[in-house]
Amino acid sequence: MTTVLAVSGLSKRFGHLVALDDASLEVAAGEVVAVLGPSGSGKSTLFRCIARLTEPDRGSIQINRVAYDGLKGRALRQARGQIGVVFQQFNLVRRRSACANVMTAALPSLPAWRVALGLYPPALRAKADDALASVGLAAQRNQRADTLSGGQQQRVAIARALMQDSCILLADEPVASLDPDAARLVLGLMRDLARSRGLGILCTLHQPELAAEFADRILSMEAGRIVSQGTCRA
Ligand SMILES: Nc1ncnc2c1ncn2[C@@H]1O[C@H](COP(=O)(O)OP(=O)(O)OP(=O)(O)O)[C@@H](O)[C@H]1O
Ligand SMILES: [Mg+2]
Repeated sequence: MTTVLAVSGLSKRFGHLVALDDASLEVAAGEVVAVLGPSGSGKSTLFRCIARLTEPDRGSIQINRVAYDGLKGRALRQARGQIGVVFQQFNLVRRRSACANVMTAALPSLPAWRVALGLYPPALRAKADDALASVGLAAQRNQRADTLSGGQQQRVAIARALMQDSCILLADEPVASLDPDAARLVLGLMRDLARSRGLGILCTLHQPELAAEFADRILSMEAGRIVSQGTCRA
């Protein structure tokens, strides 16, 4: 299987606190890897370092076998496009439609007047419609984000992440705000997207039973270290 993400020896301190200690992991195309661990064990720090939202102190990150840790400026911004991110808070623009929210993924490349007037290029609209359809929300494309259910809002956030055509999706507690049924639906959808698009998904969860049900492998973290990496499915 193709490795889409390879992390080696990633470390991060905040003052005297070692938040991430020599973390190494790999994620293959089409694979869902769950990260479990108590609060404060470094899960979000690991994700933020991989997404380069936080600068790691040490370690290497490879995306599709290309080094990503030394990049700066424009090269870094381009490489960041290879990683889609989803968080517990869906971060949608409440008053905008599902489709407009998905299209915001393309904002940095669009002239401001297009965004202000809502005049998005037809190809972008078509791509956003495809992304919404792939998360089962074709019928909700024109519905305001703040009228969608929590599970639907998270699916819009996933559709927005898919717009980048990234090979990796990092999801930090994507179902923590959802009830159990909605959580299962969102995780099932993520697993389907991993399989159908060859996405590698790294996903933190708080419930071990959900990790066992939906992930191919489980990483456990304690005090900044990855203490076990197990396979839960043959
Ligand atoms: N920007 C920061 N400045 C200082 N300390 C930080 C910072 N970010 C994280 N930490 C500390 O690093 C440790 C790991 O935090 P992190 O958010 O990665 O944990 P977590 O495993 O995601 O926890 P949770 O399950 O509660 O989300 C914690 O002790 C936290 O207080
Ligand atoms: Mg966290």
